Amino acid sequence: MNKLVIENLSLQYADGTESLSNINMDIAKNAITVLFGPAGGGKSTLLRCINRLNDLTDVETMSGRIMMDGEDILNPATDTIALRRKVGMVFARPVVLPMSIRKNLTYGLELAGEKRKSKLEEAVERSLKLAAIWDEVKDRLEEPAIALSGGQQQRICLARSLAQQPEVILLDEPTSGLDPISTGKVEAALQELKKDYTIILVPHSVQQAARTADYAAFFLQGELVEYGNGDELFTNPQEQRTEDYVTGRFG
Ligand SMILES: Nc1ncnc2c1ncn2[C@@H]1O[C@H](COP(=O)(O)OP(=O)(O)OP(=O)(O)O)[C@@H](O)[C@H]1O
Ligand SMILES: [Mg+2]
Repeated sequence: MNKLVIENLSLQYADGTESLSNINMDIAKNAITVLFGPAGGGKSTLLRCINRLNDLTDVETMSGRIMMDGEDILNPATDTIALRRKVGMVFARPVVLPMSIRKNLTYGLELAGEKRKSKLEEAVERSLKLAAIWDEVKDRLEEPAIALSGGQQQRICLARSLAQQPEVILLDEPTSGLDPISTGKVEAALQELKKDYTIILVPHSVQQAARTADYAAFFLQGELVEYGNGDELFTNPQEQRTEDYVTGRFG
């Protein structure tokens, strides 16, 4: 089943760069879709379209549609606050709030009006478990989140987005600053999460792309060069440019 259908999406920044060029992609539910390719390919730009974060950047022209459950996300009438609750995002550098671990998780819900203590408690435990960090922090929830290691902070950020009960999770190189053990924990958490969510991941390496992808999309200078089943794309790419990149001949 498709969660998102991207149709003829093109985007140009104010400096004239064509960062996405007529992208068409169906994105499956309950799977990890990776967007990979060399710097400047448009991967982050595409993620930012999916939760309308590009509203805040210097976009000159944008055309096409991104349908989620039958509604066009790009429609100016879309409630972007509600959209961003449904489509959570985790960035390369974990940005925890300067608050306790617990408060990092409940803050968004409280802003949204949730006051019931039991609901907040439940969200803390559920989201920390989903992000595979509950055991490491359950006895220190009142401590500042900033005191955790980078790998732990990244999983707190993932948990914070999960606390909002999103449907789609966008991750832009979430493990780029992490050691291999923390990276493994984040990847393992994603494998569990895909059972219930739609996950779109920009990996930090081709190796991570190959390890995690159910579906993989290769981006080069704004063009979607090849898109397909991860196993097939990494073992038997159809396009020469994909093959050159995955075999390390360029990029
Ligand atoms: N806010 C912006 N204003 C102007 N141009 C931008 C902006 N963000 C990105 N670009 C340009 O759009 C193109 C695509 O950038 P984008 O960040 O989406 O690529 P990327 O695939 O995520 O690259 P990386 O692997 O380096 O993160 C680049 O040419 C970049 O310079
Ligand atoms: Mg990027």
